[in-house]
Amino acid sequence: MNPENTGPGFNTSLSFYSTYYTSRSSLSDLIALGVYFSVRSCGGPAVPIRGGRIDATVAGPEGFVPQPQDGLGTFTNRFLRIGFNAAQMIQVVACGHTIGGVHSPEFSDIVPPGTPKGELAFDSTVAVFDNKVVTEYLNNNSTNPLVVGNAVRLRKNSDAVVFGADQNLTMKALTNPAAFQATCQSVLQQMIEIVPSNVVFSDPIQPYFVKPVGIQLTLDDYASTMTLSGGIRVRTTYLPPSSITGMTLTYKDRYGGTNCGPNGCSKTVTGSGVTKGFDDTFFWFPVKTTVPTATGISSFTVTLNLDNGTTLSFNNNGNSYPITDGIMLQSPQSCLLPTSGQLTVTAAVRNDIGSMPVTLQVTNQVPTIYPVASLVSNSMTMVKGDCVGLYTFYTASYNITGGMADTAKIDVTSGSGSTAVADTFNNGFELGAKCMPFSKPTPSACAVPGSSAPPANPSSSSMTNSPSTGSNVPSSGTSSLTTLTSSSSATSSSTRAPSTSTSRPTSKGSSAQSTSTAVTITTTSSTSSTSSTAGTSTVSTPAAAGPTQRNQVGTYALVGCYKEATDGRRALSSQSMAVDTMTAEICAAFCSQYHYFGTEYGRECYCGNVLDSTSKPTVMTDCSMHCAGDASTYCGAGSRLNVYFSNATTGPTQPPTIGKYNWYGCQTEGTISRALNDVHTADNDMTLASCAGFCDGYTYFGTEYSRECYCGNSFTEGSVVADTFDCSMICMGDAKELCGGPDRLSVYTTKGSSKLVSIHQ
Ligand code: HEM
Repeated sequence: MNPENTGPGFNTSLSFYSTYYTSRSSLSDLIALGVYFSVRSCGGPAVPIRGGRIDATVAGPEGFVPQPQDGLGTFTNRFLRIGFNAAQMIQVVACGHTIGGVHSPEFSDIVPPGTPKGELAFDSTVAVFDNKVVTEYLNNNSTNPLVVGNAVRLRKNSDAVVFGADQNLTMKALTNPAAFQATCQSVLQQMIEIVPSNVVFSDPIQPYFVKPVGIQLTLDDYASTMTLSGGIRVRTTYLPPSSITGMTLTYKDRYGGTNCGPNGCSKTVTGSGVTKGFDDTFFWFPVKTTVPTATGISSFTVTLNLDNGTTLSFNNNGNSYPITDGIMLQSPQSCLLPTSGQLTVTAAVRNDIGSMPVTLQVTNQVPTIYPVASLVSNSMTMVKGDCVGLYTFYTASYNITGGMADTAKIDVTSGSGSTAVADTFNNGFELGAKCMPFSKPTPSACAVPGSSAPPANPSSSSMTNSPSTGSNVPSSGTSSLTTLTSSSSATSSSTRAPSTSTSRPTSKGSSAQSTSTAVTITTTSSTSSTSSTAGTSTVSTPAAAGPTQRNQVGTYALVGCYKEATDGRRALSSQSMAVDTMTAEICAAFCSQYHYFGTEYGRECYCGNVLDSTSKPTVMTDCSMHCAGDASTYCGAGSRLNVYFSNATTGPTQPPTIGKYNWYGCQTEGTISRALNDVHTADNDMTLASCAGFCDGYTYFGTEYSRECYCGNSFTEGSVVADTFDCSMICMGDAKELCGGPDRLSVYTTKGSSKLVSIHQ
C-alpha cells in the first residue's frame, strides 16, 4: 500500500505558502487561497475565499486519505464524514481530477516506469480546468489512469468506481461545461470550508474599488513637516484607466479640521502603473505629500477625476480613511541587517498623546524541521530619546535570530488599551541596512501641539542615537474602503499577501475602527461570481436636459422604479457591474441571462431572476438620475432602480411559478433539523416540477444542492432567508432551472403570489 500523502506535492506547496505566512494570514487560509489560484489560473471558476481558518497544531489521524484500491463503501463513508453526499463526492473528485495526473514514482504499478514525464494525466487537457475528465469518461475514450489501464487489473481504478457510483447520473449532469464550472465552484468552496466549529469565517475576500496601500507617515528632518507616502490602488475593471485623469487626496488636520497650512488640504496626483489579476485590473496612484507638523493629519478622502468632467469620491462610508500622526515608525532612522538579524527601530511619538510604555513588537518566522516556519513574537519597551518640536523619539534594538529576519513585521505602540496609538505591520525587509541620523533644528524646542510655535526651520545638527533606513515602510493599510468590488480576484492585486486592511487609531488616540458599513452583496452567474458593495462613492454628473423613462430596451420592458432591498440585500442580486459609460442597453446586454435588469445611481447595473422581497416599488419620479453614458435615459438614483423585465433569457433561471407554487426565496437549512422537515427525496433527474409534484399538499417545497427535494408546512428553527446568490446550482434534471445550493433551498410556496407573477402575469 502507498503511504498517505506520498510524493513531493505537500512539501513543495507548503514551502511556497510558508513565505506568505504571517500573524494576519494563517497557513490554512493560504492553502484555501491556493485552491482559488490554481483553479482560476487553469481557467476554472473563481472559488470564493473566506478568511478566518485556524491552523491545526497536530497531524490528523492516519488512514483517512482515500487510496485508489479502497472500495466504494469506504469512499462514500469517508466523504460522508466530511459532509459530502454521494453526488457531491462524485462532483468533487471530478473537479479535482480535471487537472494533474498520477505519477510513476509514487504509483509505479499504475503508471509504469519509463512513462513520458513520469505522469499519466487524468484527461487530455492536463492543465486546463474543463470537463474533459467527465466527457472522456462518459464517451469511453478516457485515458485517466484511475479509470483505464493497469489500474483496472489491480482494482485501483478508483475514479471509475467513484464516477460510476450512481450509474453515471451525476457525471452526465456535468457534461454541460457551464454546469461543470458552477458545480466545481460550489463543491470546491464546500471542500475548503470544512473547518472546526470554532472558526468564524469572514465574508468572501474581494478587492476594494479604492484601497490605500502602504500609507505611511514619517517625520521629516528638522521636524517641521511630515511626509505622507504610499499608494492608492483603484480597481479599473469597469473603469478604464484612461478615463481617470487624476486622483485628489483631501485630508483633515490633526483635529479633524481644515487648517492644513499654506499648501492647503489637498494634493492631486496622476496614475502610474497598471496591475492585473485574473478578472480585474488596477491602476496605481503613488502618494507623496508634505504635511506641516504644526497642523498634522487625522484622515483623508479620495476623489477620482474623470475625463468626462465628473468625479468619483470615496470617503470610507462616511468615516474617511483614518491615519494617526500620534506615533510613526521612522523608517529612515530604523534599520535591519538581514544576515545578522540586528534590528534597530525608532518611533516618533507626539508629545501630547505620548503615554508610557512605548513598545516595539517584532513578529518573524523561524525555521522548523517542517516545510513551514513558525511565527515568533517578541515585545520590548522602547527607550526615550530626544524631543524634537512636537515629537519625542523612542528607540529599541533587537536581534532577530533564526536567519529569517527579512520576514519581520514591526509594530510600534504608545500606551495600552483603548487609548493606545500604533503603527503596525511594517515590513522589516523594507528597512535599509544603515540607520540614518535625524537632522534636528537648532534650537530644538520641545513642545506640544497648540502650546508653542512649530519647530524652527532647518539648520544642521543631528541626533546621534537614532537609527535609520531608506525606503518608506508600507503600513498595513489604513482602513477598509469599498465601492464596487468583485469576488473573482481575491488574489489579483500585486500585493504580496491577501489584503488585510486594518484600522489605525486616530490622532486623538482612540482606536477608531475603519468602518466599511457598506452593504455587500455577492452574486453569481452559472460560471462566475461577482460581487458589489454599495459604498459611499458619489457620482457628480453634469445636469442633462430632458432624460426620459424608456419603456422598452430590447426585449426588456420597464417594470417601474424600485427601492433597493433592505437588510443588507440587493433588489437584484445575481450579478452586477458599474461603468461610467452606463446605458440601459449596456445593462440589458450584461444581464441578458436574467429576467430582470436594473440600473441604479446612473452607472450601476444589477441582474437577477427575482426581485428581492424587501425591494418595493416607488414613484417613477424617484428614479431621477440619467444614465452616466446616455443623458437621454434615466438610470435609477441613489438606492433606486429602473427595473426592466424580459421573458427571453439565456441562462438558468428561478421561475416565478411552478404549478400552483410561487417563488418564496432562498432559505438556509435549519440549525437543528432540515428547514423543511416533513418528507424529502433526492433524485438525479430533479426538477422544480418534480419536487413540486412530490410535495403536493404541503405549503412549501424546496430544492437543494441540485438534486434534493424537501417538503413542509413551516420552516424549522434557524432557517432564515439567504442571499439569492446562494441558490445558484442548476437542477440536475433541467439545466435551465436553479435548484438551491449547498445548505440552501430554493423555496416555493402555495401562499401569496410571487412578485414576478404579480407584476407580469
Ligand atoms: C476517492 C477519492 C480520491 C482518490 C482515491 C484520489 C486518488 C488520487 C491519486 C492516486 C492521485 C495521484 C497522486 C500522485 O501520483 O502523486 C491523485 C492525484 C490528484 N488528485 Fe486525487 N483522489 C481522490 C480525490 C481527490 C479530490 C477530492 C481532489 C480535489 C478536489 C483531488 C485532486 C487531485 C489532484 C489535483 C491530483 C493531481 C496531483 C498532481 O498532478 O500532482 N483528488 N488523486
